[in-house]
Amino acid sequence: MPYPEIRPRRLRRTAAMRRLVSETRLDPAELVVPMFVKEGLTEPRAIASLPGVLQHSRDSLRKAAVGAVQAGVGGIMLFGVPASRDACGSGGVDPGGILNVAIRDVVAEVGDATVVMSDLCLDEFTSHGHCGLLTPTGEVDNDATLAAYAEMAVAQAAAGVGVVGPSGMMDGQVAVVRQALDVAGHTDVAVLAYAVKYASAFFGPFRDAVESALEGDRRAYQQDPANLRESLREVTLDVAEGADMVMVKPALPYLDVVAAVHAAVDVPVAAYQVSGEYAMVEAAAANGWVDRERVIMETLTSIRRAGAQIILTYWAVEAAQLLRQRY
Ligand code: PBG
Repeated sequence: MPYPEIRPRRLRRTAAMRRLVSETRLDPAELVVPMFVKEGLTEPRAIASLPGVLQHSRDSLRKAAVGAVQAGVGGIMLFGVPASRDACGSGGVDPGGILNVAIRDVVAEVGDATVVMSDLCLDEFTSHGHCGLLTPTGEVDNDATLAAYAEMAVAQAAAGVGVVGPSGMMDGQVAVVRQALDVAGHTDVAVLAYAVKYASAFFGPFRDAVESALEGDRRAYQQDPANLRESLREVTLDVAEGADMVMVKPALPYLDVVAAVHAAVDVPVAAYQVSGEYAMVEAAAANGWVDRERVIMETLTSIRRAGAQIILTYWAVEAAQLLRQRY
């Protein structure tokens, strides 16, 4: 070796040294667990393509929410699966709809012990499975959908949610939701904008989880995976429209986007480690092909390192427990 001998390995030799110089630390408080609740269930039900994730009954959801709080997670993101659907997704707006009822249940159970969030989108509630209302020719009608989102936001806020997550990728959705919340007196409800959402095949298992009726795809409103600059345009617009936090989704295949968004805005950046990311690791681990826990922590660390301050992950509760025990 030439002199002076520069030996980066000195800082890797012991666990104590590695811990000292670690640049990225995960904390349970940064993890948000998505949870599904299905109308009419009396027992929780497994989701084949998401092993370990459940469609909850109202009762099991309350218990799972308490468990998540005990594990120390930063938030819970709720998704509802209705028993029946219609063309305009009226179950999402109805105060008695499953998602709004579940928000009430969870808030009654956990209060402010964690942040209760809800997906604000019509795809779980529409008979065609699209994120918005359709025109007579079958296109997603941006502006008609905005009116439905406004109503849905107010219903979720009235149910007590702390954060709404508009995820439908309609232009102008953040502004419309913010205004509707404010006019209805819900000025304290925050908006986590799914600002950057790619038309991704990694959402596949989620569509099983919510029993989505979608045929076709969402490429006319979700983003092209080929584009990065477009994401900066989307986040800039959402922040200008009043987003309190912005999200990038999926996470692991888009770490360059997470990093660019983190550099571009001054609001907290979240990333959603989506269903397909989870399912791939679970499938490989079930075959003994990867070390499951190490891969989980490595993916979360990488998403955090890229610049996501908040991570939505189906492993949130388990990862929070692992972080407390071992890492
Ligand atoms: C839309 C929504 C989707 C996901 C979260 N919110 C589905 C979609 O856009 O098709 C996907 C999450 C995941 O795959 O884990 N309501």
